[in-house]
Amino acid sequence: MPVSDETLERAKASDAVLLGAVGDPEFDRNPGHLRPEKGLLALRHSLGAFANLRPVAALPALLSASTLKEEVLKGVDILIIRELTGGAYFGEKEEGEERASDLSVYTREEVERVARVAFEAAEGRRGRVTSVDKANVMATSRLWRSVVDDVAGEYPGVALDHVLVDAAAMFLIRDPRRFDVLLTENLFGDILSDEAAMLPGSMGMLPSASLGLPGTPGIFEPVHGSAPDIAGRGVANPYATILSCAMMFRHSLGRPDVAGAIERGVSVSLEAGFRTADLGGSHTTEDVTRAVSRWAAAGEGVA
Ligand code: IPM
Ligand code: MN
Repeated sequence: MPVSDETLERAKASDAVLLGAVGDPEFDRNPGHLRPEKGLLALRHSLGAFANLRPVAALPALLSASTLKEEVLKGVDILIIRELTGGAYFGEKEEGEERASDLSVYTREEVERVARVAFEAAEGRRGRVTSVDKANVMATSRLWRSVVDDVAGEYPGVALDHVLVDAAAMFLIRDPRRFDVLLTENLFGDILSDEAAMLPGSMGMLPSASLGLPGTPGIFEPVHGSAPDIAGRGVANPYATILSCAMMFRHSLGRPDVAGAIERGVSVSLEAGFRTADLGGSHTTEDVTRAVSRWAAAGEGVA
């Protein structure tokens, strides 16, 4: 079993779960239920963590680290909200040598609750939700679209538009500033968030928070995988994990002051040029971590 019942029970009894990246080629030949990813999916599901928040900002210090042009990136600030416990990831599966299927199911309630998270987030940001679906082809997307329209009625101060997922993939690199909150289902959100990871320059910069109903523990993890190709060399980019800790302090531990200090530590450290190899630098994981902790501790308001 990739995750034991005991671990799941302990996670449920916690205030928050901080998760390291999972995955290893050693398990590539395993059947679906014996892969490490299954453990992560079981954790998300058993904690009811249905709303996955993936903020994507193009930090000034990293504009040159991206493969995209600076004028496209400047000012990008997107919050991707990915539905995390429904759709094809969790539908009934059939896996044979000749035939396989992944059923994708969404209920009104599942769409409603994640849509509310998106509209509420937009109220505290630039007031725009872009809902991404494939309503020209998929029945789940047509339900998604009509429920999101209904929920939008409760938030008159927030502007809503709908974009098909293929077009959204294009807009994300052509004109990423058009997005404020991007709301989407599980599988589309998985794909679009990797694409969006190219805006800040590296996958190694993206944190995430997966939240359920109030009072349940959130899960905090970097968006990236385990990078087995560089394992053991001390060169992995720790920024995404550190920023995930900041999200943990903000969303689950009631310490926005600590979150702010960590985020300032990250900005100062990037401005001072602390970069791992994926960002075009030569600092080690430890160099970056020490730099961030030093500047975070120097920030205001930290007990
Ligand atoms: C992610 C990851 C996971 C997902 C994998 C590891 C199961 O790619 O968090 O984006 O597909 O959700
Ligand atoms: Mn992914």
